[in-house]
Amino acid sequence: MPAVVIIGAQWGDEGKGKATDLLAGRIDYVVKFNGGNNAGHTVVVGDEKYALHLLPSGILTEGVTPVISNGVVVDIEVLFGELDALSARGVDVSKLLISANAHVITHYHRTIDKVTERFLGKRQIGTTGRGIGPAYADKINRVGIRIQDLFDENILRQKVEGALNIKNHLLVKVYNRRAIGADEVVDELLSYAERLRPMVVDTALVLHQALERGETVLFEGGQATMLDVDHGTYPFVTSSSSTAGGAATGSGIGPNRIDRVIGIVKAYTTRVGAGPFPTELFDESGEFLRKTGFEFGTTTGRPRRCGWYDAPIARYTARINGVTDFVMTKLDVLTGLESIPVCVAYDVDGVRVDEVPVSQSDFHHAVPIYENFPGWTEDISGARTFDDLPKNAQDYVLAIEAMSGARISAIGVGPARDAIVVRHDLLG
Ligand code: GDP
Ligand code: IMO
Ligand code: MG
Repeated sequence: MPAVVIIGAQWGDEGKGKATDLLAGRIDYVVKFNGGNNAGHTVVVGDEKYALHLLPSGILTEGVTPVISNGVVVDIEVLFGELDALSARGVDVSKLLISANAHVITHYHRTIDKVTERFLGKRQIGTTGRGIGPAYADKINRVGIRIQDLFDENILRQKVEGALNIKNHLLVKVYNRRAIGADEVVDELLSYAERLRPMVVDTALVLHQALERGETVLFEGGQATMLDVDHGTYPFVTSSSSTAGGAATGSGIGPNRIDRVIGIVKAYTTRVGAGPFPTELFDESGEFLRKTGFEFGTTTGRPRRCGWYDAPIARYTARINGVTDFVMTKLDVLTGLESIPVCVAYDVDGVRVDEVPVSQSDFHHAVPIYENFPGWTEDISGARTFDDLPKNAQDYVLAIEAMSGARISAIGVGPARDAIVVRHDLLG
Protein backbone atom coordinates (compact mmCIF):
# COMPACT_ATOMS: atom_id res chain seq x y z
CA MET A 1 0.00 0.00 0.00
CA PRO A 2 2.59 2.60 -1.04
CA ALA A 3 0.73 5.93 -1.38
CA VAL A 4 -2.08 6.84 0.99
CA VAL A 5 -3.86 10.19 1.14
CA ILE A 6 -5.65 11.58 4.18
CA ILE A 7 -8.10 14.42 3.57
CA GLY A 8 -10.66 16.33 5.60
CA ALA A 9 -14.20 15.39 4.59
CA GLN A 10 -16.03 18.43 5.98
CA TRP A 11 -14.80 21.97 6.84
CA GLY A 12 -11.62 21.02 8.65
CA ASP A 13 -10.68 19.99 12.18
CA GLU A 14 -12.06 16.50 11.67
CA GLY A 15 -9.11 14.94 13.50
CA LYS A 16 -6.72 14.48 10.57
CA GLY A 17 -3.76 14.94 12.89
CA LYS A 18 -4.84 12.08 15.09
CA ALA A 19 -5.54 9.85 12.07
CA THR A 20 -2.09 10.57 10.63
CA ASP A 21 -0.48 9.89 13.96
CA LEU A 22 -2.35 6.61 14.17
CA LEU A 23 -0.91 5.40 10.86
CA ALA A 24 2.52 7.00 11.18
CA GLY A 25 4.05 3.98 12.89
CA ARG A 26 3.63 2.04 9.64
CA ILE A 27 4.80 4.60 7.12
CA ASP A 28 8.15 5.85 5.89
CA TYR A 29 7.31 9.37 4.69
CA VAL A 30 4.60 11.82 5.70
CA VAL A 31 3.97 14.68 3.29
CA LYS A 32 2.18 17.95 3.86
CA PHE A 33 1.07 18.86 0.34
CA ASN A 34 -1.18 21.93 0.70
CA GLY A 35 -1.90 24.90 2.90
CA GLY A 36 0.44 26.36 5.47
CA ASN A 37 0.21 27.39 9.08
CA ASN A 38 -3.53 27.98 8.75
CA ALA A 39 -3.87 24.32 9.74
CA GLY A 40 -4.10 23.33 13.37
CA HIS A 41 -3.76 19.71 14.36
CA THR A 42 -3.99 18.63 17.97
CA VAL A 43 -2.43 15.26 18.65
CA VAL A 44 -2.50 13.62 22.06
CA VAL A 45 0.30 11.15 22.75
CA GLY A 46 0.16 9.66 26.24
CA ASP A 47 0.05 12.63 28.61
CA GLU A 48 1.55 14.95 26.02
CA LYS A 49 -0.52 17.21 23.80
CA TYR A 50 0.98 18.68 20.62
CA ALA A 51 -0.46 21.48 18.47
CA LEU A 52 1.01 21.41 14.96
CA HIS A 53 0.39 24.04 12.31
CA LEU A 54 2.89 23.94 9.52
CA LEU A 55 4.59 20.64 10.15
CA PRO A 56 2.88 17.39 9.21
CA SER A 57 1.55 15.50 12.25
CA GLY A 58 3.56 12.43 11.28
CA ILE A 59 6.69 14.23 12.51
CA LEU A 60 5.76 13.03 16.01
CA THR A 61 6.54 9.44 15.06
CA GLU A 62 10.15 8.36 15.31
CA GLY A 63 11.70 7.11 12.10
CA VAL A 64 9.25 8.82 9.74
CA THR A 65 10.68 11.32 7.26
CA PRO A 66 8.48 14.43 7.23
CA VAL A 67 8.20 16.33 3.96
CA ILE A 68 6.87 19.78 3.12
CA SER A 69 6.22 19.53 -0.60
CA ASN A 70 5.78 22.07 -3.40
CA GLY A 71 2.06 22.68 -2.80
CA VAL A 72 2.66 24.24 0.62
CA VAL A 73 3.15 27.91 1.48
CA VAL A 74 5.84 28.26 4.14
CA ASP A 75 6.13 30.95 6.79
CA ILE A 76 9.76 30.30 7.64
CA GLU A 77 9.72 32.01 11.01
CA VAL A 78 6.78 29.84 12.02
CA LEU A 79 8.58 26.80 10.65
CA PHE A 80 11.67 27.41 12.77
CA GLY A 81 9.54 28.20 15.81
CA GLU A 82 7.67 24.93 15.48
CA LEU A 83 10.85 22.93 14.92
CA ASP A 84 12.48 24.48 17.99
CA ALA A 85 9.42 23.87 20.15
CA LEU A 86 9.27 20.21 19.12
CA SER A 87 13.03 19.72 19.59
CA ALA A 88 12.76 21.18 23.08
CA ARG A 89 10.21 18.48 23.85
CA GLY A 90 12.50 15.74 22.58
CA VAL A 91 10.95 15.17 19.14
CA ASP A 92 13.54 14.38 16.46
CA VAL A 93 12.95 16.88 13.66
CA SER A 94 16.28 16.41 11.90
CA LYS A 95 14.86 14.46 8.96
CA LEU A 96 12.55 17.19 7.69
CA LEU A 97 12.75 17.80 3.93
CA ILE A 98 11.38 20.90 2.20
CA SER A 99 10.67 21.38 -1.47
CA ALA A 100 12.75 23.96 -3.30
CA ASN A 101 9.54 24.82 -5.16
CA ALA A 102 7.37 25.54 -2.12
CA HIS A 103 6.32 29.18 -1.88
CA VAL A 104 7.21 31.51 0.94
CA ILE A 105 4.77 33.52 3.05
CA THR A 106 6.32 36.90 3.71
CA HIS A 107 5.51 39.79 5.96
CA TYR A 108 3.55 41.51 3.15
CA HIS A 109 1.31 38.49 2.64
CA ARG A 110 0.27 38.55 6.28
CA THR A 111 -0.38 42.30 6.12
CA ILE A 112 -2.44 42.00 2.95
CA ASP A 113 -4.44 39.09 4.38
CA LYS A 114 -5.49 41.25 7.32
CA VAL A 115 -6.24 44.46 5.43
CA THR A 116 -8.23 42.76 2.68
CA GLU A 117 -10.37 41.01 5.29
CA ARG A 118 -11.03 44.34 6.94
CA PHE A 119 -11.99 45.83 3.58
CA LEU A 120 -14.45 43.03 2.85
CA GLY A 121 -16.48 44.11 5.86
CA LYS A 122 -19.63 41.98 6.07
CA ARG A 123 -18.38 39.77 3.24
CA GLN A 124 -15.32 38.67 5.24
CA ILE A 125 -14.06 35.11 4.76
CA GLY A 126 -12.85 34.89 8.35
CA THR A 127 -9.38 33.78 7.32
CA THR A 128 -6.77 32.74 9.83
CA GLY A 129 -4.82 35.91 8.98
CA ARG A 130 -1.65 33.94 8.28
CA GLY A 131 -1.10 35.29 4.75
CA ILE A 132 -2.22 32.08 3.06
CA GLY A 133 -4.53 33.56 0.40
CA PRO A 134 -2.14 36.36 -0.66
CA ALA A 135 0.81 33.92 -0.90
CA TYR A 136 -1.18 31.58 -3.16
CA ALA A 137 -2.47 34.57 -5.15
CA ASP A 138 1.14 35.57 -5.85
CA LYS A 139 1.96 32.00 -6.86
CA ILE A 140 -0.86 31.94 -9.41
CA ASN A 141 -0.01 35.49 -10.47
CA ARG A 142 3.60 34.38 -11.06
CA VAL A 143 5.07 36.86 -8.64
CA GLY A 144 5.61 34.45 -5.73
CA ILE A 145 8.86 33.86 -3.86
CA ARG A 146 9.96 30.25 -3.74
CA ILE A 147 12.19 28.58 -1.19
CA GLN A 148 14.94 28.18 -3.79
CA ASP A 149 15.00 31.96 -4.35
CA LEU A 150 16.47 32.41 -0.87
CA PHE A 151 19.73 30.92 -2.11
CA ASP A 152 20.31 33.54 -4.78
CA GLU A 153 20.35 37.05 -3.35
CA ASN A 154 20.12 38.78 -6.73
CA ILE A 155 17.13 36.81 -7.88
CA LEU A 156 15.49 37.19 -4.49
CA ARG A 157 15.89 40.95 -4.52
CA GLN A 158 14.49 41.24 -8.05
CA LYS A 159 11.50 39.11 -7.18
CA VAL A 160 10.72 40.89 -3.93
CA GLU A 161 11.01 44.28 -5.62
CA GLY A 162 8.75 43.08 -8.43
CA ALA A 163 6.16 41.77 -6.01
CA LEU A 164 6.21 44.90 -3.85
CA ASN A 165 5.96 47.24 -6.79
CA ILE A 166 2.22 46.84 -7.20
CA LYS A 167 1.53 45.89 -3.61
CA ASN A 168 2.93 49.09 -2.18
CA HIS A 169 0.63 51.14 -4.42
CA LEU A 170 -2.26 49.12 -3.08
CA LEU A 171 -1.11 49.27 0.52
CA VAL A 172 -0.57 53.01 0.48
CA LYS A 173 -3.26 54.30 -1.88
CA VAL A 174 -6.08 51.85 -1.25
CA TYR A 175 -5.51 50.44 2.19
CA ASN A 176 -3.92 53.49 3.75
CA ARG A 177 -0.99 51.53 5.17
CA ARG A 178 2.72 52.20 5.10
CA ALA A 179 4.78 50.96 2.17
CA ILE A 180 6.96 47.91 2.81
CA GLY A 181 10.62 48.25 1.89
CA ALA A 182 12.17 45.52 -0.27
CA ASP A 183 15.31 45.56 1.87
CA GLU A 184 13.59 44.62 5.09
CA VAL A 185 11.90 41.67 3.38
CA VAL A 186 15.06 40.51 1.60
CA ASP A 187 17.18 40.80 4.75
CA GLU A 188 14.68 38.80 6.76
CA LEU A 189 14.45 36.04 4.16
CA LEU A 190 18.22 35.88 3.69
CA SER A 191 18.68 35.46 7.41
CA TYR A 192 16.83 32.13 7.17
CA ALA A 193 18.80 30.76 4.23
CA GLU A 194 21.66 29.09 6.04
CA ARG A 195 19.52 27.14 8.48
CA LEU A 196 17.09 26.20 5.73
CA ARG A 197 19.61 25.03 3.15
CA PRO A 198 20.27 21.46 4.40
CA MET A 199 16.53 20.69 4.46
CA VAL A 200 15.83 21.81 0.91
CA VAL A 201 15.74 19.15 -1.80
CA ASP A 202 13.80 18.01 -4.86
CA THR A 203 11.06 16.41 -2.79
CA ALA A 204 9.18 15.16 -5.88
CA LEU A 205 12.24 13.09 -6.79
CA VAL A 206 12.72 11.86 -3.22
CA LEU A 207 9.09 10.71 -3.06
CA HIS A 208 9.26 9.07 -6.47
CA GLN A 209 12.32 7.11 -5.41
CA ALA A 210 10.71 6.12 -2.13
CA LEU A 211 7.63 4.80 -3.95
CA GLU A 212 9.85 2.95 -6.43
CA ARG A 213 11.52 1.22 -3.49
CA GLY A 214 8.08 0.16 -2.24
CA GLU A 215 8.15 2.43 0.77
CA THR A 216 4.93 3.83 2.19
CA VAL A 217 4.14 7.51 1.80
CA LEU A 218 1.28 9.19 3.63
CA PHE A 219 -0.02 12.46 2.18
CA GLU A 220 -1.54 14.51 4.96
CA GLY A 221 -4.03 17.06 3.70
CA GLY A 222 -4.59 20.30 5.55
CA GLN A 223 -8.03 21.95 5.62
CA ALA A 224 -10.80 19.96 3.94
CA THR A 225 -12.95 19.24 0.91
CA MET A 226 -15.53 21.94 1.67
CA LEU A 227 -12.66 24.46 2.02
CA ASP A 228 -11.00 23.42 -1.26
CA VAL A 229 -10.55 26.33 -3.66
CA ASP A 230 -12.26 24.43 -6.50
CA HIS A 231 -14.69 22.10 -4.77
CA GLY A 232 -15.51 23.92 -1.53
CA THR A 233 -18.04 26.59 -0.69
CA TYR A 234 -16.29 29.26 -2.77
CA PRO A 235 -15.50 32.06 -1.92
CA PHE A 236 -15.66 30.87 1.69
CA VAL A 237 -12.72 28.54 1.21
CA THR A 238 -9.00 28.43 1.68
CA SER A 239 -6.75 29.10 -1.31
CA SER A 240 -5.28 25.65 -1.91
CA SER A 241 -6.29 22.25 -3.27
CA SER A 242 -7.16 20.35 -0.14
CA THR A 243 -8.77 17.43 -1.97
CA ALA A 244 -7.05 14.18 -2.95
CA GLY A 245 -6.05 15.48 -6.38
CA GLY A 246 -4.06 18.15 -4.57
CA ALA A 247 -1.82 15.42 -3.20
CA ALA A 248 -0.58 14.75 -6.74
CA THR A 249 -0.09 18.33 -7.92
CA GLY A 250 1.05 19.43 -4.48
CA SER A 251 3.82 16.84 -4.30
CA GLY A 252 4.74 15.92 -7.85
CA ILE A 253 3.75 12.26 -7.74
CA GLY A 254 1.56 10.87 -10.51
CA PRO A 255 -2.14 10.55 -9.62
CA ASN A 256 -2.07 6.86 -10.56
CA ARG A 257 0.33 6.30 -7.64
CA ILE A 258 -2.41 6.91 -5.09
CA ASP A 259 -3.67 3.63 -3.71
CA ARG A 260 -5.97 4.71 -0.96
CA VAL A 261 -7.84 7.86 0.03
CA ILE A 262 -8.93 8.13 3.64
CA GLY A 263 -11.56 10.75 4.42
CA ILE A 264 -11.67 11.97 7.99
CA VAL A 265 -15.18 12.89 9.07
CA LYS A 266 -16.59 13.97 12.42
CA ALA A 267 -19.68 12.25 13.80
CA TYR A 268 -21.21 15.75 13.59
CA THR A 269 -20.05 18.88 11.70
CA THR A 270 -18.03 21.99 12.56
CA ARG A 271 -16.85 25.02 10.66
CA VAL A 272 -14.58 27.97 11.51
CA GLY A 273 -14.97 31.28 9.67
CA ALA A 274 -17.79 32.46 7.43
CA GLY A 275 -19.81 30.65 4.76
CA PRO A 276 -22.82 28.40 4.34
CA PHE A 277 -23.36 25.53 6.77
CA PRO A 278 -26.84 23.98 6.43
CA THR A 279 -26.88 21.90 9.63
CA GLU A 280 -25.49 24.65 11.87
CA LEU A 281 -27.13 24.82 15.29
CA PHE A 282 -27.84 28.02 17.14
CA ASP A 283 -29.50 26.43 20.18
CA GLU A 284 -28.33 24.50 23.22
CA SER A 285 -27.55 21.42 21.07
CA GLY A 286 -24.87 23.44 19.28
CA GLU A 287 -23.56 24.61 22.63
CA PHE A 288 -23.52 20.98 23.82
CA LEU A 289 -21.40 19.90 20.83
CA ARG A 290 -19.03 22.86 21.25
CA LYS A 291 -18.52 22.23 24.95
CA THR A 292 -18.40 18.45 24.87
CA GLY A 293 -16.28 18.29 21.73
CA PHE A 294 -14.10 21.18 22.90
CA GLU A 295 -14.68 22.89 19.56
CA PHE A 296 -12.32 25.83 19.70
CA GLY A 297 -9.80 26.45 16.92
CA THR A 298 -6.26 25.09 17.40
CA THR A 299 -4.86 27.97 15.33
CA THR A 300 -6.96 30.99 16.24
CA GLY A 301 -8.83 29.85 19.36
CA ARG A 302 -12.11 30.89 17.74
CA PRO A 303 -15.21 28.95 18.85
CA ARG A 304 -16.15 26.58 16.03
CA ARG A 305 -19.64 26.66 14.57
CA CYS A 306 -21.31 23.30 15.29
CA GLY A 307 -24.06 21.28 13.66
CA TRP A 308 -25.34 17.78 12.97
CA TYR A 309 -23.85 15.26 10.54
CA ASP A 310 -24.54 16.07 6.92
CA ALA A 311 -24.71 12.93 4.76
CA PRO A 312 -24.91 14.71 1.36
CA ILE A 313 -21.60 16.41 2.23
CA ALA A 314 -20.02 13.04 3.05
CA ARG A 315 -21.24 11.65 -0.28
CA TYR A 316 -19.91 14.71 -2.07
CA THR A 317 -16.53 14.26 -0.39
CA ALA A 318 -16.47 10.56 -1.22
CA ARG A 319 -17.09 11.42 -4.86
CA ILE A 320 -14.69 14.36 -5.25
CA ASN A 321 -11.81 12.56 -3.54
CA GLY A 322 -12.44 8.95 -4.45
CA VAL A 323 -12.61 8.12 -0.75
CA THR A 324 -11.91 4.44 -0.13
CA ASP A 325 -12.32 4.59 3.65
CA PHE A 326 -13.74 7.02 6.15
CA VAL A 327 -12.42 7.45 9.66
CA MET A 328 -15.23 8.82 11.78
CA THR A 329 -13.97 10.78 14.77
CA LYS A 330 -15.57 12.06 17.96
CA LEU A 331 -18.41 9.58 18.20
CA ASP A 332 -17.90 9.84 21.99
CA VAL A 333 -19.02 13.49 21.88
CA LEU A 334 -22.57 12.39 21.00
CA THR A 335 -22.87 10.24 24.14
CA GLY A 336 -25.76 11.36 26.32
CA LEU A 337 -27.96 12.75 23.56
CA GLU A 338 -31.46 11.29 23.58
CA SER A 339 -31.84 11.47 19.87
CA ILE A 340 -29.34 12.34 17.13
CA PRO A 341 -30.51 14.06 13.94
CA VAL A 342 -28.66 13.34 10.69
CA CYS A 343 -29.18 15.45 7.59
CA VAL A 344 -30.18 13.09 4.77
CA ALA A 345 -31.13 15.64 2.08
CA TYR A 346 -32.01 19.34 1.74
CA ASP A 347 -35.12 21.32 1.11
CA VAL A 348 -34.18 24.04 -1.37
CA ASP A 349 -37.02 26.49 -1.86
CA GLY A 350 -39.61 23.76 -1.38
CA VAL A 351 -37.88 21.10 -3.48
CA ARG A 352 -36.14 18.05 -2.00
CA VAL A 353 -32.52 17.89 -3.14
CA ASP A 354 -30.51 14.77 -2.32
CA GLU A 355 -27.01 15.95 -3.27
CA VAL A 356 -24.96 19.06 -2.47
CA PRO A 357 -26.36 21.67 -4.90
CA VAL A 358 -23.89 23.07 -7.43
CA SER A 359 -25.41 26.54 -7.08
CA GLN A 360 -23.97 28.42 -4.15
CA SER A 361 -27.25 30.32 -3.68
CA ASP A 362 -29.13 27.03 -3.44
CA PHE A 363 -26.64 25.79 -0.86
CA HIS A 364 -27.15 28.99 1.12
CA HIS A 365 -30.90 28.34 1.10
CA ALA A 366 -30.64 24.60 1.79
CA VAL A 367 -32.66 23.58 4.82
CA PRO A 368 -31.66 20.17 6.17
CA ILE A 369 -34.13 17.31 6.08
CA TYR A 370 -33.34 15.24 9.17
CA GLU A 371 -33.73 11.63 10.14
CA ASN A 372 -33.47 11.00 13.89
CA PHE A 373 -31.50 8.19 15.45
CA PRO A 374 -31.80 7.04 19.08
CA GLY A 375 -28.82 8.02 21.26
CA TRP A 376 -26.95 6.11 23.98
CA THR A 377 -25.77 6.98 27.49
CA GLU A 378 -22.97 4.45 28.03
CA ASP A 379 -19.38 5.81 28.13
CA ILE A 380 -17.82 4.55 24.88
CA SER A 381 -14.30 5.92 25.34
CA GLY A 382 -12.97 2.48 26.30
CA ALA A 383 -14.43 0.73 23.23
CA ARG A 384 -11.80 -0.88 21.02
CA THR A 385 -13.93 -3.16 18.84
CA PHE A 386 -17.19 -2.45 17.07
CA ASP A 387 -18.93 -4.96 19.35
CA ASP A 388 -17.85 -2.91 22.40
CA LEU A 389 -20.10 -0.06 21.22
CA PRO A 390 -23.70 0.12 22.48
CA LYS A 391 -26.26 -1.09 19.94
CA ASN A 392 -27.55 2.44 19.25
CA ALA A 393 -24.03 3.75 18.58
CA GLN A 394 -23.43 0.85 16.20
CA ASP A 395 -26.70 1.57 14.43
CA TYR A 396 -25.79 5.27 14.13
CA VAL A 397 -22.46 4.38 12.48
CA LEU A 398 -24.02 1.79 10.17
CA ALA A 399 -26.81 4.17 9.11
CA ILE A 400 -24.31 6.91 8.35
CA GLU A 401 -22.07 4.48 6.49
CA ALA A 402 -24.97 3.48 4.26
CA MET A 403 -25.55 7.15 3.36
CA SER A 404 -21.97 8.34 3.03
CA GLY A 405 -20.56 6.68 -0.06
CA ALA A 406 -17.68 4.69 1.47
CA ARG A 407 -17.11 2.31 4.34
CA ILE A 408 -16.34 3.65 7.80
CA SER A 409 -13.17 1.77 8.65
CA ALA A 410 -12.31 3.32 12.01
CA ILE A 411 -14.20 5.21 14.70
CA GLY A 412 -12.67 7.69 17.14
CA VAL A 413 -13.97 7.40 20.69
CA GLY A 414 -11.68 9.89 22.45
CA PRO A 415 -8.73 12.26 21.83
CA ALA A 416 -6.02 9.79 22.91
CA ARG A 417 -3.90 7.96 20.35
CA ASP A 418 -5.39 4.57 21.20
CA ALA A 419 -9.01 5.74 21.61
CA ILE A 420 -10.13 4.19 18.36
CA VAL A 421 -12.22 1.30 17.07
CA VAL A 422 -10.71 -0.22 13.93
CA ARG A 423 -13.11 -2.15 11.69
CA HIS A 424 -10.92 -2.50 8.59
CA ASP A 425 -7.16 -2.12 8.29
CA LEU A 426 -6.59 1.34 6.78
CA LEU A 427 -3.35 0.30 5.10
CA GLY A 428 -4.21 -3.34 4.37
P1 GDP B 1 -7.39 18.40 12.34
O1 GDP B 1 -7.16 19.82 12.00
O2 GDP B 1 -8.25 17.69 11.36
O3 GDP B 1 -6.10 17.66 12.61
O4 GDP B 1 -8.22 18.40 13.71
P2 GDP B 1 -7.98 19.33 15.00
O5 GDP B 1 -6.79 18.83 15.73
O6 GDP B 1 -8.04 20.76 14.64
O7 GDP B 1 -9.32 19.04 15.80
C1 GDP B 1 -9.68 17.76 16.19
C2 GDP B 1 -9.74 17.69 17.73
O8 GDP B 1 -10.46 16.55 18.11
C3 GDP B 1 -8.39 17.58 18.41
O9 GDP B 1 -8.44 18.31 19.60
C4 GDP B 1 -8.25 16.09 18.70
O10 GDP B 1 -7.46 15.82 19.85
C5 GDP B 1 -9.68 15.71 18.96
N1 GDP B 1 -10.05 14.35 18.60
C6 GDP B 1 -9.65 13.62 17.51
N2 GDP B 1 -10.33 12.45 17.47
C7 GDP B 1 -11.16 12.45 18.54
C8 GDP B 1 -12.15 11.54 19.02
O11 GDP B 1 -12.41 10.48 18.45
N3 GDP B 1 -12.83 11.91 20.14
C9 GDP B 1 -12.61 13.09 20.79
N4 GDP B 1 -13.32 13.36 21.88
N5 GDP B 1 -11.69 13.96 20.36
C10 GDP B 1 -10.99 13.65 19.26
P1 IMO C 1 -7.18 22.20 9.58
O1 IMO C 1 -6.06 21.63 8.75
C1 IMO C 1 -10.68 24.79 9.80
C2 IMO C 1 -10.69 28.31 7.19
C3 IMO C 1 -10.62 29.66 7.86
C4 IMO C 1 -11.40 30.50 6.87
C5 IMO C 1 -10.99 29.90 5.53
C6 IMO C 1 -9.87 30.66 4.82
O2 IMO C 1 -6.84 22.40 11.02
O3 IMO C 1 -8.44 21.43 9.37
P2 IMO C 1 -7.27 30.89 5.24
O4 IMO C 1 -6.50 31.45 6.42
O5 IMO C 1 -6.92 29.48 4.92
O6 IMO C 1 -7.21 31.78 4.03
O7 IMO C 1 -8.81 30.92 5.72
O8 IMO C 1 -10.56 28.58 5.80
N1 IMO C 1 -9.60 27.38 7.56
C7 IMO C 1 -9.77 26.33 8.38
N2 IMO C 1 -10.84 25.92 9.08
N3 IMO C 1 -9.55 24.07 9.83
C8 IMO C 1 -8.47 24.45 9.11
O9 IMO C 1 -7.35 23.71 9.00
C9 IMO C 1 -8.52 25.66 8.37
N4 IMO C 1 -7.66 26.32 7.57
C10 IMO C 1 -8.34 27.37 7.08
O10 IMO C 1 -11.24 29.64 9.13
O11 IMO C 1 -12.77 30.28 7.03
MG1 MG D 1 -7.49 21.73 12.78
